[in-house]
Amino acid sequence: MITVLWLSLAFAPGAEVRLPEPPLGLDAYMPAPEDNPLAPGKVALGRKLFFDKRLSRDGTLSCATCHDPERAFSDGRALARGIGGAEGPRNSPAIVNRAYGASHFWDGRAPTLERQAVEPILNPKELGLSLPELEKRTGMKSGEVAAAIASYVRTIRSGASRVDRYIAGQQAALSETERAGLQLFRGKANCVACHVGANFSDEQFHNTGVAWRDGRFSDDGRFAVTGKAGDRGAFKTPTLREIARTAPYMHDGSLATLQEVVEYYSSGGRPNPHLDPEVRPLRLSADEKQALVAFLKALSGEVREGWR
Ligand code: HEC
Ligand code: HEC
Repeated sequence: MITVLWLSLAFAPGAEVRLPEPPLGLDAYMPAPEDNPLAPGKVALGRKLFFDKRLSRDGTLSCATCHDPERAFSDGRALARGIGGAEGPRNSPAIVNRAYGASHFWDGRAPTLERQAVEPILNPKELGLSLPELEKRTGMKSGEVAAAIASYVRTIRSGASRVDRYIAGQQAALSETERAGLQLFRGKANCVACHVGANFSDEQFHNTGVAWRDGRFSDDGRFAVTGKAGDRGAFKTPTLREIARTAPYMHDGSLATLQEVVEYYSSGGRPNPHLDPEVRPLRLSADEKQALVAFLKALSGEVREGWR
């Protein structure tokens, strides 16, 4: 008995904090690492830093420039644009429900939000600061900056969509078309092979062919982290929450609308040597495509941020 208890404590993933009123569809307990438990003051500080333009070399940008609360913390551009107009290689993802994510960035190279937080500050194509300059401007150690920003990012949550209400038993929360879309999502269209769970992501990496261009990969994706040939062109399954608000889509922003995304999957993605076997021609009818898009739009709900 005692052994069992001890084991379960030893393998606990980290501190869990009960946030006030989680939106419907999300766990009330938010995981956080043992060495950076959530606390209201730290979240408030992280929030300030997230919107603080002094975190960019020339004082023109903050995290929120690319992760705009008005767009569910994405930026509406195909590719991110950092200081001096420098264009990065990837699309700025929506950052909702990252607390429940297993790894961060399109290739999953950051195992924690603490490790993630400093990267954009130092990236010369994003905020472009040096470590000493960061510490000078904030009067904080870089580890403290990372802990505060990560804590704030953890509190950015999306839930209580009409899909959540439907799943909770409110039949009328979805229209007939949206319900048909949900059925396709779970059935014929096979989206749940990867977009599964409360966050509509399996937290794994898959090659859907988006990066395959002219007989080569335009972006190696997960391969850069694992060095495994089969991971070339694989990217992390993104959440689909708030998806109607975060166009354009995919790691390179190459698909402008949800209609284009559904077309893309229906045609079977872009065949390449490592295409995931779960991506294959679906031959959806025009009505089915429309229903799937309608369903995706019903995944927008309430976005909350900060300690509330
Ligand atoms: C110039 C635009 C830009 C700025 C500024 C920026 N980001 Fe990002 N962010 C991106 C891009 C692009 C990615 C994806 C990069 C990749 O996968 O290689 C990303 C990824 C992320 C992720 C991972 C999301 C996921 O789904 O895995 C988080 C979290 C994040 N950013 C938080 C921040 C924070 C915090 C700041 C400020 C310290 C910040 N970002 C500043 C563009 C930006
Ligand atoms: C084999 C796993 C897999 C399957 C099956 C799958 N997806 Fe995806 N989905 C992904 C991955 C991985 C990405 C990111 C790919 C990239 O950017 O290169 C993605 C991206 C997306 C995006 C863009 C998200 C964003 O933030 O840019 C949407 C929308 C989407 N999928 C919807 C669907 C729908 C609808 C279906 C069913 C028709 C589906 N997916 C089937 C793995 C999958």
